[in-house]
Amino acid sequence: MQGYVPGEQPAGTDYIKLNTNENPYPPSPKVREAVIEEIERIRLYPDPMANRLRDRVAEIHGLARENVLVGNGSDDLLTMVMRTFADQGDPVVSPTPTYTLYHTLCEIQGANYLGIPYRDDYSFNGELVPAKAKIVFVANPNSPSGTLLDEDLLSRVATRIAGVLVVDEAYVDFSRKNCLGLLKSKKNAIILRTLSKSFSLAGLRVGYALADAGVIEQLAKVKDSYNVSRCAIAGGMAALGDIDWMRENARTIIASRRRLTWGLEELGCFVFPSESNFVLARITNYPAEQIYRQLKRRNILVRYYDIPRLRDCLRISVGTDAEIKRLVIEMAEIIGWRTKVGSQK
Ligand SMILES: Cc1ncc(COP(=O)(O)O)c(C=O)c1O
Repeated sequence: MQGYVPGEQPAGTDYIKLNTNENPYPPSPKVREAVIEEIERIRLYPDPMANRLRDRVAEIHGLARENVLVGNGSDDLLTMVMRTFADQGDPVVSPTPTYTLYHTLCEIQGANYLGIPYRDDYSFNGELVPAKAKIVFVANPNSPSGTLLDEDLLSRVATRIAGVLVVDEAYVDFSRKNCLGLLKSKKNAIILRTLSKSFSLAGLRVGYALADAGVIEQLAKVKDSYNVSRCAIAGGMAALGDIDWMRENARTIIASRRRLTWGLEELGCFVFPSESNFVLARITNYPAEQIYRQLKRRNILVRYYDIPRLRDCLRISVGTDAEIKRLVIEMAEIIGWRTKVGSQK
């Protein structure tokens, strides 16, 4: 197997990094304080269940501790879901193109991955999901498209399948809607959240799952014993204790997303409607791969996928306004496009 290929993480800091959907703004200052304080105790193992953090998450969502499980990022929770619910040869389904880790985890588990294509506009026909699916993974908003599916549609998918529906809401704080409502009526729904994106904690590794208590109990059986470190628990607690900080940053990013979209449209790109902290741009007037390479030479990283349907696209994270301006100017130069933006240089 090929294994999962994460986006590039260069050693230097001279790059404008718009390739892995990190937050361009720092986390709440309370995170720093909490992590530094926790260092005093790193001689000791952390709480295996991270119960303090579970309780804080439960309180935020009006749920019980038993409905929450914390992970070393949401990737850790995806692994737990896979280990818990899919045996060798079992059907595991996703609308595609999507987060490629779902496919990789299936390969590791020996499960049978079935990608069902989104329509061209990234709407989806839920009726195509086979009833025998053991797991359905839906990134919502989706990556790399940034688009959103309706809770009603996902509710119908949850009803028709034998297994669990995982709604991966990694980008939900940049979106107008979420699917928490599914937890009220669907015992087989699992919602995944991460603090990596909106809370600016990609490097600390904190994610959580929300689900029926019976599902959480099973997931906990397959997790690593001490899957969330002391610093991650402390930092996660602090970040979740300062939600206003996250919301303010999310609002800024949504406003910058609009400016990035306009800039790209002015260059002749088609930009899919994004509910995330990134946009997918289809480029019709120049080869996308060459733009990706030339941007890299100019120290700007964006994401290019050499796979069907995405070869003419770039996925670009929403950076600061200064970063976005630089990106659009450089792209204009590469494409040879004379725009108002380009002539500002
Ligand atoms: C759809 C989706 N789910 C999950 C993740 C992983 O997030 P975490 O950092 O919490 O492991 C990502 C990261 O890029 C993602 O795009």
